[in-house]
Amino acid sequence: MSSSSSLKFVIVTLAIVLVVFTATCYADDDDLSTGFYSKSCPKVFSTVKSAVHSAISNERRIGASLLRLHFHDCFVNGCDGSILLDDTSSFTGEKTAAPNNNSVRGFGVVDKIKAKVEEVCPGVISCADILTIAARDSVVILGGPDWEVKVGRRDSKTASFNDANSGVIPPPTSTLSNLINRFQAKGLSAKDMVALSGAHTIGKARCTSFRNRIYNETNIDSSFAKSKQNKCPRTSGSGDNNLADLDVSTPNKFDNFYFKNLLNQKGLLHSDQILFNGGSTDSIVKRYSNKPSTFDEDFVKAMIKMGDIEPLTGSSGEIRKHCARPN
Ligand code: HEM
Ligand SMILES: *[C@@H]1O[C@H](CO)[C@@H](O)[C@H](O)[C@H]1NC(C)=O
Ligand SMILES: *[C@@H]1O[C@H](CO)[C@@H](O)[C@H](O)[C@H]1NC(C)=O
Repeated sequence: MSSSSSLKFVIVTLAIVLVVFTATCYADDDDLSTGFYSKSCPKVFSTVKSAVHSAISNERRIGASLLRLHFHDCFVNGCDGSILLDDTSSFTGEKTAAPNNNSVRGFGVVDKIKAKVEEVCPGVISCADILTIAARDSVVILGGPDWEVKVGRRDSKTASFNDANSGVIPPPTSTLSNLINRFQAKGLSAKDMVALSGAHTIGKARCTSFRNRIYNETNIDSSFAKSKQNKCPRTSGSGDNNLADLDVSTPNKFDNFYFKNLLNQKGLLHSDQILFNGGSTDSIVKRYSNKPSTFDEDFVKAMIKMGDIEPLTGSSGEIRKHCARPN
């Protein structure tokens, strides 16, 4: 190489380095991205997917449980894996808070997924991202829409029982305006809220969550109510944990039958039927029941928005080694 061409080479190299360096510095650190692990752990998506696959083959309901874990994680101080933390001597976590106690499940499966991921990329993938990816995979495996998930979340070092109990996760007894307000508080519109409620196309609820509805409410199909009463005694305390499918038509398939059920007054929870009860969201429910593709599109958009709620990025938080405890 002549000295002038090697000088050119050095200058061009420096220029490239400068451009890349500048772009990196000015990139919004807080932004999650689909390619966050493309260098550090290209196998993360296939690893999580195969673990979710085997978990669902073992037990069909687990897909629903994983999807719900992501929701309950994101609504309490952002998508930071906080719901996965066991109580410690310094804090009481979210697992026993009212919306979660005896209800959220799937922790063992999350630990299994994490162990698989640690095998291929130790110390790289957050538990918060595992919840996001596993939620998407569950939807896809159960027949729903597919999308690219944004990743790059980090894990919290703490969790808050009180925050999980504060009403940020709305109870099934909520009014329509409470549902709208609670989602609005997280940057999600009424339409997002209705679309996300379509997650109740899979999974189950306990008798205690729908007892009042099947005995006391009038906006319910009477034969549907009777059939649910068979496994959910009127007296509180008996059969509280008996389960019923949230989607009476196609409980194991991610589809739009949840919305069709609402048109027939066959919503299981009060908070389901209130979405189609003469109020402002009736038209959205009708649209989703008629156009599955519109539901799919809106559900995906809303899931991406939900996954964007207050993530920890940059040097905040940590990458937990075990999802159930801080490092
Ligand atoms: C709109 C407000 C919502 C309310 C009031 C609500 C309430 C509930 C309740 C009470 C249960 C049954 C819990 C039990 O009895 O143990 C449940 C289950 C479930 N929820 Fe929601 N939910 C809401 C929104 C969502 C969202 C946004 C998602 C996810 C995107 C979701 C996903 C699920 C799933 C998949 C299940 C079944 C879980 C399983 O079988 O393990 N829910 N929900
Ligand atoms: C959670 O549920 C268990 C079992 O039903 C119960 O003993 C415990 O008191 C509940 N915890 C809270 C904080 O409500
Ligand atoms: C029905 O409503 C009454 C009056 O609010 C209440 O006392 C009763 O506990 C409710 N029954 C059920 C099964 O929830």
